[in-house]
Amino acid sequence: MDLSIRGYEKMPPTLYRRGEIHRLDLQPLERVAQNESMSVRILGIESSCDETAAAVVADGREILSSVVASQIDVHRKYGGVVPELASREHLRQIVPVVREALEQAKMRLADVDAIGVTQGPGLVGALLVGITYGKTLAAALQKPLVPVNHLEGHVHAVFLEAHKSGREPELPAVCLIVSGGHTVLYEVKPDKAHGTFEYRKIGQTRDDAAGEAYDKVAKLLGLGYPGGPILDRLATATNGVPAPVKFGSIKTRGNPYDFSFSGLKTAVLYHVREHPEYTPEIRSREEALVRGERKYEQLLPLCSAQTLALVREFQNAVVRDLVDRTLAAAEELSGESILVSGGVAANSQLRATFEERARAKGLEVFFPSRALSTDNAAMIAAAAYYRFRAGQFADTSLNADPSLKLA
Ligand code: KG4
Ligand code: ZN
Repeated sequence: MDLSIRGYEKMPPTLYRRGEIHRLDLQPLERVAQNESMSVRILGIESSCDETAAAVVADGREILSSVVASQIDVHRKYGGVVPELASREHLRQIVPVVREALEQAKMRLADVDAIGVTQGPGLVGALLVGITYGKTLAAALQKPLVPVNHLEGHVHAVFLEAHKSGREPELPAVCLIVSGGHTVLYEVKPDKAHGTFEYRKIGQTRDDAAGEAYDKVAKLLGLGYPGGPILDRLATATNGVPAPVKFGSIKTRGNPYDFSFSGLKTAVLYHVREHPEYTPEIRSREEALVRGERKYEQLLPLCSAQTLALVREFQNAVVRDLVDRTLAAAEELSGESILVSGGVAANSQLRATFEERARAKGLEVFFPSRALSTDNAAMIAAAAYYRFRAGQFADTSLNADPSLKLA
């Protein structure tokens, strides 16, 4: 897909041509809401951080299309998401991404029953792009606009995946959402009156999110951005070599279900600073990154056994902490299942450790696929479906809420 500014000129202006919007075969809202047997197809739009995404999901469970345009290449050289650049990229990508989602679903805009859009939390300028576009589509099409909490989207990503294999996580569940922006534990119960879920926050990070710690540690080791996927693979590249430093369990005072990852990141930083033998290899990796060599196969030969063992020790500490606190919460609350979602849920060791340790306690653990773990719009459309059924619509006064709470 050509996402450069010039790409605009090449796009047929279907979405914006006034005449066409007026010719659309509009479905009366009441018919959609009242006819239970009709399949409800929701267009989801997500633009809270650095992914512009659109998807069409039928009845909150069947993914008809899911398109994600990542901005990683734009933010990479800054080692993190730059809000102003994120908004600008969303503006460039939102139209072609929505168009692609509709094409993949073999649908016209007129076939969409409602539009679900991420209201927050996230970067305000980034959120506003999706919200403004969603509002405009909803008004032009005379379809309901359903505001969605991004975190509720992550919860629904787990249910979407479970539905694919005909499973249904039992409630109450304990849900860990772990990404670059969030590390938070919720208790999830059914809200029978509205046919939605009810959430209670059990704990959250007091400083860095787990994904943020991955990204910062990767940066200081000269391993590029984002850090999670590469550290995930490097952590298992060496076994026998003893760790050059040991990280004990992470202590947090007060709530035992709160997280803290900035101390661990700082411990890695101090260890590297105190050991000058790391410096030449970090430099050589940084030079490789400048040459565009950022793949696992290209960086692995530039990592000493000591570095690989350090990465392994870092990942062990993160995974141990996430799993320990989540399982303890599930036990205390007598949860029926555990849900894990967000970018870091793509981590192989986290998945394997959860599977093993939850099974030992007789608990079932559910993850989205890797593609549904990271930000996407299918999860937004799925979450929107239940809010749609509950009649929770927004009007044109809908605004972005960068710190929107789920509970
Ligand atoms: O959910 P997400 O796409 O966006 C946010 O809402 O942050 O998560 C991105 C985060 C990044 O910090 C990235 O390093 C991390 O998820 N991540 C991983 C893995 N894949 C992505 N962390 C650990 N292991 C992975 N395999
Ligand atoms: Zn997210």
